[in-house]
Order: sequence, then structure tokens, then C-alpha cells
Amino acid sequence: MSAVKKRRILLIEDTVPLAKLYIEFLRADAHEVVHCTRGGEALDAAAAAPPDAVILDLKLPDMDGLEVLRALHHRDPGISVVIITAHGSIDLAVEAMKLGAFDFIVKPFNADRLNLTLRNALERRTLARMVEGYRKDLDRGRFHGFIGSSPEMQAVYRTIESVAASRANVFITGESGTGKEVAAQAIHRASPRRDGAFVALNCAAIPKNLLESEIFGHVKGAFTGAAADRPGAALLADGGTLFLDEICEMPVDLQAKLLRFVQTGAVTPVGSGREERVDVRFVAATNRDPLAEVQAGRFREDLYYRLHVIPLALPPLRDRGDDVIDIARAFLVDYAREEGKSLSVFAAEVEARLRAHDWPGNVRQLQNVIRNVVVLHDGSQVTLDMLPPMAACADAPAVAGTGPGPGGPEADGTVLPLWRVEKDMIRKALRLAGDDVPRAALMLEISPSTIYRKLQQWRAAEERGAEGSGMEGRPAGETAA
Ligand SMILES: Nc1ncnc2c1ncn2[C@@H]1O[C@H](COP(=O)(O)OP(=O)(O)OP(=O)(O)O)[C@@H](O)[C@H]1O
Ligand SMILES: [Mg+2]
Repeated sequence: MSAVKKRRILLIEDTVPLAKLYIEFLRADAHEVVHCTRGGEALDAAAAAPPDAVILDLKLPDMDGLEVLRALHHRDPGISVVIITAHGSIDLAVEAMKLGAFDFIVKPFNADRLNLTLRNALERRTLARMVEGYRKDLDRGRFHGFIGSSPEMQAVYRTIESVAASRANVFITGESGTGKEVAAQAIHRASPRRDGAFVALNCAAIPKNLLESEIFGHVKGAFTGAAADRPGAALLADGGTLFLDEICEMPVDLQAKLLRFVQTGAVTPVGSGREERVDVRFVAATNRDPLAEVQAGRFREDLYYRLHVIPLALPPLRDRGDDVIDIARAFLVDYAREEGKSLSVFAAEVEARLRAHDWPGNVRQLQNVIRNVVVLHDGSQVTLDMLPPMAACADAPAVAGTGPGPGGPEADGTVLPLWRVEKDMIRKALRLAGDDVPRAALMLEISPSTIYRKLQQWRAAEERGAEGSGMEGRPAGETAA
């Protein structure tokens, strides 16, 4: 049996003996030939199952053959139609070619002639489909919350599309701020579960002693403070998607319980003896190297393999070419509208600078930079002097007059608020530790949970829009005292 999919040929020929002869010519076993004797019937057949090529006799009992051709083209402009014409009707064939027919053959013809013409028609069709596919890819500058048309992101979109339909668990990796949560949501939204809930659980942000109850829920009285039964994320995500964010931060003992849940779909709320079954699709994410975590004994190997069915790696922003400009432009428009500003374009040098920067904080950092510009400046064009100093930016020295750079007081003796110094120092430690929170904590001689708490507070402040407004990352209510 051939593994090649048969191509569907629609043969429109009112003279049955001739049609039979052509089918014989075509070696019907090589193609799937659908034969129609009337134009209307043929259009219905083409609508029901689009053919790869059409062989059309222009003289039909119920319709003008050229009308049939027009209708076929109207439905599918890329369709390949081969016209059969009698010796005396070459004019008609020429007319058909003008209307977009692929080729014509004059009766009588032999098997070779028919097969050669058909093979060319099918080849043209294949090429047209490939071009269509490439164009579709190039056109995809946006995809479920993502902006960017780089080949790297097209590959991400394709993976998301192809896994969305299944229940397979997806494991997303990528540096901080590359859009892992955006990807998790895209998978949910592109999936048949889109009407179910998308529940995100950030394993790094929830205190370890509360994590189990956050996932599995608890019953009243299960622990001090459990005043009533409470469903966990697992139950809330029933019929939908459970996003386990920062999965590598989950304590190892809880990983064992999670493994059981992933394997069986069974949930036991804290303090309850009763199991409930849920239907959940898992998407996990981390900005660490999960295999290194497995090797270090911090992430259970069996859980890793359960979750790591489909890997999805998000490229860093610096590897996405001009996407950085497309994303920056979109943020500029959004933030200017939100802030009531008229900034709408970047000067050419600004775009060059944005493109050249290495964006260690990826899209989130870009967001902050653009927000900063919009909040602090007016006018219609963003100029180079408006850009804030960008951390870890080898190409962009801090611009005088736009505030102190990261890392502490300036040489002139300016004193910074303590929260700012703390934030810069933690960021610096994280950078040096390659975003490994426990390692950064070790350097700073503080506990990792302090960093997690701070990160969470800063994120909340960023979401409130405090970042860049001069209150950068300053948690609500926190004073320098
Ligand atoms: N391609 C993109 N186009 C537009 N916005 C994006 C894109 N990627 C990410 N974002 C935005 O950037 C921010 C960071 O994205 P997200 O939270 O998904 O990143 P992350 O990889 O989960 O980061 P972290 O590791 O820090 O949790 C979000 O506000 C998100 O909407
Ligand atoms: Mg995230």
C-alpha cells in the first residue's frame, strides 16, 4: 500500500463513455476520481470536498462550462482546472485560460497527454499551497496575545496550534519575561477546553505551607485558619487547563502528591479522606533548566517526564529580530492611549537602539521601558534622550539627566531611597546567579522566600503601573524606614 495520499480529481464530462475512457487513462488507482456529468452537480461536489485538480469539458448540458470555471475559481482562487475542448473550439479554450484555467487539451488526446497535463496541474496546486502556507506564516504578526512575526515565533505559534487540540501536557521553558504565561493562555484558548477555566498557580509566589491547599483545596478545620471548605486550583480547573507556573519551585514532598494527581486525575483536599476526580490539562512553566533541576535532585524525574510531554521553548527577545520593534510600537500605542499622551512613533535611532539591546528581562523589560518613556515624556516622537537607562545594556550607556543607573548612589553623592537600592541589589544578584533565586539569596545572605516575596510585590506594582512612574517597584505602603 502506498503511503502517499491520493489526490482528488474532479472530472466534469457529460459523455459517459468518454469519461470512462479518461478514468482509465488516469489509472484510477493513482487518484481518487470523482465524476460528474452536470455543472451544478460538479459545483456541489467541489463544495463538499475540494478537489486538488479539475478536468472540465466546456460543453455541458445544464450550464455554460465557462460559468462552471468561474464558480470554481470564485470558491477557490488557487484551484487548477484543465479544460477539455474540441478541435473547433480553441477560442473557447483561450477564453477559459483568460479566466484562470491552468491548461487545455484538445480532443482527441491520449493517456500520456492527459497525465502529463494533470501532473503539472497538481504540481502547481502543491506549490500554490506552499506559498499560501508561507504567506499565512508571514502574515501572522499576532497570535493569541503574542505580537511578533519572526520565524522563531512562527515556530512557537505552530507548536501551540498543533498541540492545542490534544490533551497532552505541555512544558514551557524560557527566560523571564519571554511570555510563558501568554503561551499557556494561548494553548488554552486555542484548545477545545477554551470554554472551561484557565487556572494559573504560581508555585514561587505562594508560601510553601499553603501550596498544597491552593492546589488541592481543603476542608473546614483542616488547619488553623481553614474556616470553611475551599476548592483548590485542581477542582476549579476541571474541564479546563491548570497552569503550574514556576514548577521547579514546588517543594519535593508536594511534587509526589502532584505526580499522583497528574497520573490519575484524583484530587484529595487537605484534611479530607475523600477523593474527587477531575479532567484537567496541565501546562507547566519554568525559567530554569528543568533537567538541571532534576539532576540536582530538586525536581522529581518522574514528574518531569509526566509533564514534559510536549516541550515549548520560548526564544529570548534578542533572538526575535524585528519583533522587538513591532512589540515596542504596539506598547507605545497602547500606553499612550492609556496615559492620554500623543507619543506615537520612535525616532530611527531609538529603533536601532531597541533592536541592538540584549533585553535580559525580555518582553517585560521592554514593556517597562516603553511605559517609562510614555509616563515621563510628551510630544509625538520618542527620541533617544527619552529612553531610560537600560540595565545590563552594553550598547546603551545611561543617559545623563534621566536618573541614576542601577546599582546604587551616583558618584555625585545622590542618595537613593532604600527600597530602590534593595531592588537594584536583588536584581543584580539575580542576574549574576542566572535567575537562580536560591543562589542569589545565598549571595545576599537572605532567605530565598524574601526574594520571592519581593519579586511578587514588584510584579504587583508593575501591574498597577507604578513601575517607571518614579515609584519603580516600590511596594504599596512600604517606606524606607
Ligand atoms: N510576544 C509578545 N507580544 C506582546 N506581549 C508580550 C509578548 N510576550 C510577552 N508579552 C507580555 O510581556 C509580559 C511578560 O509575559 P509573561 O508574564 O507571559 O512572561 P513569563 O515568561 O511568564 O515571565 P516570568 O518568567 O517572569 O514569569 C506580559 O505582560 C505579557 O503580556
Ligand atoms: Mg510567568
